[in-house]
Amino acid sequence: MKAHRINFTLNGEKVSLEVEPNDVLLDTLRGRLGIKSPKVGCDRGDCGTCTVLMNGRTVRSCLALAVEADGADLVTLEGAGTRKWTKRLQAKFHEKNAFQCGFCAPGVILSATELLEKNPKASQHDIKEAIAGNLCRCTGYEPIVEAIAETAKGK
Ligand code: FES
Ligand code: FES
Repeated sequence: MKAHRINFTLNGEKVSLEVEPNDVLLDTLRGRLGIKSPKVGCDRGDCGTCTVLMNGRTVRSCLALAVEADGADLVTLEGAGTRKWTKRLQAKFHEKNAFQCGFCAPGVILSATELLEKNPKASQHDIKEAIAGNLCRCTGYEPIVEAIAETAKGK
């Protein structure tokens, strides 16, 4: 198979690299670029631990090909400082101890980022809907929803 050169922005930095047509975005981020916040969970689109933002929208990087990132603006939790809501959410989750093992954290925070960028006045219902695809085995979701709601209210 013929390799493709792709160019994209990752957490505010320009990246250029050659990828195979069937390279998976999650593997490329973790294995070649040292971006470890997107986690390998189910590896089939069910758990949300591999979530990244691509052009402001959440994408399951285990289901995306690296070539799809060509020309895109990618954000992972390592780039929290590049997004207002990501940074605020991260601080609030920390303050409230809203996670336990933290495995789901990067995906949840990026899903919440997408929500608050679109709708800073998100309701509890909106929040629950936005994180419905991010599975958490530890918390029962209540502290997560509360942390997102408090972030939205600027508390
Ligand atoms: S690892 Fe991608 S959705 Fe579970
Ligand atoms: S805090 Fe452990 S999976 Fe969510």
